Amino acid sequence: MVEFKKTSSNKKKGYYVKMKLLHSHGGGRSTNNYYTIFFKWVLWISLFLYFSTSYFITSSNNKDYYSSSSLPNFKSRTLLETNATVLLNPINKNTALFNNMKIYIYDLPTKYNIDWLSNKRCSNHLFASEVAIHRALMKSEVRTHNPLEAKFFFVPVYLSCNFSTVNGFPSMGHARPLLASAVQFISSTLPYWNQSNGSDHIFVASHDFGACFHSVEELAIADGIPEFMKKSIILQTFGVNFRHVCQAENNVIIPPYVSPISIKSTLQQAPANGRRDIFVFFRGKMEVHPKNISGQFYSRRVRSTIWHKFSRNRKFYLKRERFDGYQKEIQRSVFCLCPLGWAPWSPRIVESVALGCVPVIIADGIRLPFSEKIQWSKISITVAEKDVTKLGKILKHVASTNLTTIQKNLWDPVNRRSLLYVKDEIQQGDATWQMLSSLSHHHEEKLRM
Ligand SMILES: *[C@@H]1O[C@H](CO)[C@@H](O)[C@H](O)[C@H]1NC(C)=O
Ligand SMILES: *[C@@H]1O[C@H](CO)[C@@H](O)[C@H](O)[C@H]1NC(C)=O
Ligand SMILES: *[C@@H]1O[C@H](CO)[C@@H](O)[C@H](O)[C@H]1NC(C)=O
Ligand SMILES: *[C@@H]1O[C@H](CO)[C@@H](O)[C@H](O)[C@H]1NC(C)=O
Ligand SMILES: *[C@@H]1O[C@H](CO)[C@@H](O)[C@H](O)[C@H]1NC(C)=O
Ligand SMILES: *[C@@H]1O[C@H](CO)[C@@H](O)[C@H](O)[C@H]1NC(C)=O
Repeated sequence: MVEFKKTSSNKKKGYYVKMKLLHSHGGGRSTNNYYTIFFKWVLWISLFLYFSTSYFITSSNNKDYYSSSSLPNFKSRTLLETNATVLLNPINKNTALFNNMKIYIYDLPTKYNIDWLSNKRCSNHLFASEVAIHRALMKSEVRTHNPLEAKFFFVPVYLSCNFSTVNGFPSMGHARPLLASAVQFISSTLPYWNQSNGSDHIFVASHDFGACFHSVEELAIADGIPEFMKKSIILQTFGVNFRHVCQAENNVIIPPYVSPISIKSTLQQAPANGRRDIFVFFRGKMEVHPKNISGQFYSRRVRSTIWHKFSRNRKFYLKRERFDGYQKEIQRSVFCLCPLGWAPWSPRIVESVALGCVPVIIADGIRLPFSEKIQWSKISITVAEKDVTKLGKILKHVASTNLTTIQKNLWDPVNRRSLLYVKDEIQQGDATWQMLSSLSHHHEEKLRM
């Protein structure tokens, strides 16, 4: 049942009222409000159905998983799900796409992976692609149990699950010894590592500076990639389009993990009118006076500049505190700022695309995930770090020229799906699928050499 929560006449709060309408229970109410609520509810469902079904049509034989599962609980859901199943092109029909590429997954002692899952955060935080990819591969048709037919060997070590009790961030100190011990294990029990010196072995390094295993760039560069991994293939979130110690191996740039469940749930709670009442949004760490940490300033001072220049600008909705409901804010926003932090990449980029907010990427030299597939220039705005003071002007210009085009491109389910890891299975076009596609190209290139 619906409840009307009393609020002030404040515009912003009005939005939250609508959200609460669909999700709270019990409480006092007036009859008048019932009509408004009922009307909004019907409108909401109609719009939702309209968009959901049109996805099925536009995405032809691709399953858009938002559509099947983001519907509220009523009869036609079953119908749509049946259709979704029919429309889904199962991955085993498509192995030819990956050149019949087969991957052998090492069965490591549980201390390297599943033991870490006793902490729930391990499979849900922004570095959790290491878990998502492993799970998806385990169930996939590209998996082989016969190492002799494998093109690649996947080494499932969960490196980012050791959360610091002090600040709650993953502590990476144990990563190198843990990996070294995993490699010691596989190279002493099976012959495949030694046969290639690890060059057909795949690891996931999903945190700040990828295979360098450190969250501060200077220290990451100083330590470099562990010697024994240098020949291997690393799936990493860190990527820049210039030479960098931390991407000096074979790599595939993958998106950071954003829980598809939280995205679905946010989409379900979308306001009826789909209106975006925030022009520019950013929530996150913004040091007012960033400290010089061994010659480095957090976010190369970009975030502080944004704060100083725009925190009093009414078109900018900038918040420095944590807030669990921030995905709803993204959904309310036209432009979402994605400035660098310590590393250039950010889960904000994925969340913005998934929720239809135009990402404004401010991170010089960033290499974005799956750039051979996703036409980033069509779905995002890139602003040079030195131009960050001109953000207001730049975004106003976009709004008056090509914003509608960008939003339309952005809402294409093909882009949104490629950045999300569908739980426990590979779906055509999702992040794991795109990763495999990149790997297979990698393999073809190797064959040609
Ligand atoms: C699938 O959807 C179409 C309309 O888009 C409908 O005509 C058809 O009956 C549905 N099929 C199933 C199996 O639900
Ligand atoms: C977790 O990280 C800390 C700090 O790097 C380290 O001391 C500890 O041994 C790690 N825990 C495990 C189980 O590896
Ligand atoms: C692989 O090489 C290492 C070091 O040379 C050696 O200790 C190990 O026994 C070899 N593994 C196998 C399975 O032969
Ligand atoms: C692996 O590395 C060792 C030592 O660097 C080298 O002797 C050997 O030829 C390499 N094997 C392959 C298959 O590249
Ligand atoms: C930051 O600190 C380094 C020494 O750690 C110093 O060389 C550099 O000049 C400082 N930069 C600024 C802008 O203060
Ligand atoms: C939109 O316009 C901006 C310049 O204002 C340009 O940089 C960008 O490439 C355009 N994007 C699209 C998708 O047309």
